[in-house]
Amino acid sequence: MQKKISTPQSKTWSGRFSVPTTELVKNYTASVFFDKKLALFDIQGSLAHAQMLSEVGVLTQKDFKEITKGMAVIKKEIETGQFNWSIDKEDVHLNIERRLTDLIGDAGKRLHTGRSRNDQVATDIRLYLRHQLDTIQLYLLELIQACATFAEHHFDTVMPGFTHLQVAQPITLGHHLHAYCEMFERDFERYEDCRKRLNRLPLGSAALAGTSYPLNRQRVSELLGFDDISRNSLDAVSDRDFAIEFCSCSSLLMVHLSRLSEELILWMSPRFNFIEIGDAFCTGSSIMPQKKNPDVPELARGKSGRVIGHLMGLLTLMKSQPLAYNKDNQEDKEPIFDTVETISQTLQVFRDMLGDIKVHKDTMQQAAKEGFATATDLADYLVKKGIPFRDAHEIVAKAVLYAEKRQIDLDDLSIEDLKKFSPLIEKDIYQVLTLSGSLNSRNLPGGTAPKQVKKALSQTLSRVKKGLALSQKRLLSR
Ligand code: ARG
Repeated sequence: MQKKISTPQSKTWSGRFSVPTTELVKNYTASVFFDKKLALFDIQGSLAHAQMLSEVGVLTQKDFKEITKGMAVIKKEIETGQFNWSIDKEDVHLNIERRLTDLIGDAGKRLHTGRSRNDQVATDIRLYLRHQLDTIQLYLLELIQACATFAEHHFDTVMPGFTHLQVAQPITLGHHLHAYCEMFERDFERYEDCRKRLNRLPLGSAALAGTSYPLNRQRVSELLGFDDISRNSLDAVSDRDFAIEFCSCSSLLMVHLSRLSEELILWMSPRFNFIEIGDAFCTGSSIMPQKKNPDVPELARGKSGRVIGHLMGLLTLMKSQPLAYNKDNQEDKEPIFDTVETISQTLQVFRDMLGDIKVHKDTMQQAAKEGFATATDLADYLVKKGIPFRDAHEIVAKAVLYAEKRQIDLDDLSIEDLKKFSPLIEKDIYQVLTLSGSLNSRNLPGGTAPKQVKKALSQTLSRVKKGLALSQKRLLSR
């Protein structure tokens, strides 16, 4: 059988081979289709490497100057879409290196001294992810800000709080939304923690064992803005735990967003009718003219699946890999890229959507009145009069049953009726059974009393403000 073979053989590593790879294998093993996304970070890493090489005398100043000039041309070609990406050159690293040699000759061939694609790619992906992470953290802060601002407008808007999706106790919408602010702030902290381990420089590890050239790794680390250098070459070229951590943080964030999505979808359903999401974030149906569908939260709920999928993909990619680098690791890129894109888009669209939601306060208030939401308050009232909680619970359960049969609420019962359940009940009970009485009584840190909610939200907003300033500074320092 005739094999389909590409000729002439022009691979960078082809010297050792007598038979060239088939087209099929070439396509199977190449990564340039997707890793060209790393191009500008690859150039950034190469320039720092070359500068250090020239400083320690491995390259001449002249070589470094040539490399700088050549890279500037390449950068421009890439940015203007004129760069000729070739599958024959396998990946982003070889494409750029070959082009550099075409442009500047031997100095281009000397760039790879003391380096391997293994530590090169490990560096590139960290530079890329750090950059994306900084942007994602900014978007996340903006989302928290939008969520807290929305919540502030509703610090005293009453709604039913649910457990088991059954009316449980009255809460405020501000309190409910603040819960998401808290989840998102923890997501932010997790990203911040992930960034610490991500921000270490692998360059200098070479293929796996380090290099015999007198590299100044600390200097490259400084030039590229890393916090430190990696401490073991085998580990640095092979582990992708930082990418797994990133996908793990992202999965949790998507899980939180999917919970919020689910609630927004429910609340917008005519059965609830608590809110209306702005037209700009909804779509219609091609067949049912009356429909307005909450597509944005539905899609976010769905997209959580792909991010969690990427986490599973990367964990499985890493599992059982022997030290050090294996080609398996080339498969890390697409899940990372897709996670970055999904998270960035979702955060921005949620940030904007949260500023465009109409709240139907009356419907929410009405819903909070149904379902005996203040039953616990009645029990607590009795406890405060000396009845053990378990007995109070029993008394109130009977009162609820009684009211339910008559299809009225607890505060519609007359004082005579209420006294039948416990003679300790006095007229002041009506204050306790109102929604505002119930809300205001939960006046402790973390509770739903509007006073507490207002305070918690203003603290959230001031933390976010500080975070935003830091985040913008970080981005500007690039
Ligand atoms: N394209 C490769 C990757 O993404 C670069 C490293 C190649 N190293 C090697 N030893 N073949 O992992």
